[in-house]
Amino acid sequence: MTASRYQIHDASAIPSPSLLFYPELIRANLARMIEIAGGSDRLRPHGKTHKTREIFQMALQMGVRKHKVATVAEAELAAQSGVPDVFLAYPLVGPNCERFARLVRSSPQTQILACVDDVEATAQLEAALRGGPPVEAVVDLDVGQHRTGVSELAKAVALYERIARSPVLRCGGLHAYDGHNNAPEPEKRRQVVAEITERVQELLNLLHRKGLPVPRIVAGGTPSFPFWAKVDLPNLECSPGTCVLHDHGYQSKFSDVGFTIAAALLGRVVSKPTSDRVTLDLGTKAVGFDPPPANRIALWDIPEHRVVGHYEEHLILESPHAEQFGIGQEVYGSPTHICTTVALHREAVVVERGRVVDRWPILARDRRLTI
Ligand SMILES: Cc1ncc(COP(=O)(O)O)c(C=O)c1O
Repeated sequence: MTASRYQIHDASAIPSPSLLFYPELIRANLARMIEIAGGSDRLRPHGKTHKTREIFQMALQMGVRKHKVATVAEAELAAQSGVPDVFLAYPLVGPNCERFARLVRSSPQTQILACVDDVEATAQLEAALRGGPPVEAVVDLDVGQHRTGVSELAKAVALYERIARSPVLRCGGLHAYDGHNNAPEPEKRRQVVAEITERVQELLNLLHRKGLPVPRIVAGGTPSFPFWAKVDLPNLECSPGTCVLHDHGYQSKFSDVGFTIAAALLGRVVSKPTSDRVTLDLGTKAVGFDPPPANRIALWDIPEHRVVGHYEEHLILESPHAEQFGIGQEVYGSPTHICTTVALHREAVVVERGRVVDRWPILARDRRLTI
């Protein structure tokens, strides 16, 4: 991998560490997402990856009107950005029910969908929504990740019927996120999607027999996206997130999905404590640190190296080429996980054809905007 397409011609005024966004590549990823989905109507990208007004608006301009989010702040940002249809795909409990209700009341131009998997939480949400406009509630299914969702069909039907009887909720459909479906082999991922589809179809039949409407089925992330896109379920919407910006982690593991890395990190050599060491300013406050330390970022300019330490502000490498690097030298790389990396930065430096053209605030990295 060469960094040349990501390099800034003159980065002398750009402090490091900096998050870099490449709008032309982001646009190309969005176009490919629409193509894979078979049209923008079958796409509901997850905004938790970018958390950025400008990317919501870029997607809107390309006809992607439905978005998924994970926090009230992301939902508020999507609504402020002009998104007409936002699905907050996260359980709402405690004060977040009231925040959600306030957001619904203050955003009449945006349809905001809630996600439920529990009777008690549904009752809390109903209480918060009382007196306001009705809200479509999507039932979250546990399709194998065992993180959230209803796993038994009978319970899913009972919850759906509960929503149908509610004075403030409306039947919003089903949510099937398969975060566990991440085998590197495409055939294995296709097989898991086929198995989940069978169960969802079974549930759909039960709901249809009771005359309950299912206006949407929201399914999948990036690794399973190409397989969900081929599934023939009514009102299916695919909800990949990472591939909008893409990252080293997904590119190296799921080469079949075919997206381009559209975000990078700029760092610099800040110290050379020993003859074989190079220390960069790409610490854990700049690089998402969920994967193991040895593999948190692909450094395109330092092909042979070993990570020997990752601290808040320092990334320490050992490399046989250490002497070739000068103090202050720029390095570019792709984090293994872009979503957690983006959330560490207040803004992204926007780069087009090697030039810095703008700065986009990562507004929804905050947990609370105004609500
Ligand atoms: C509920 C939900 N939907 C969709 C996605 C998007 O998945 P990916 O990041 O693999 O594209 C995620 C990712 O965490 C998620 O949690």
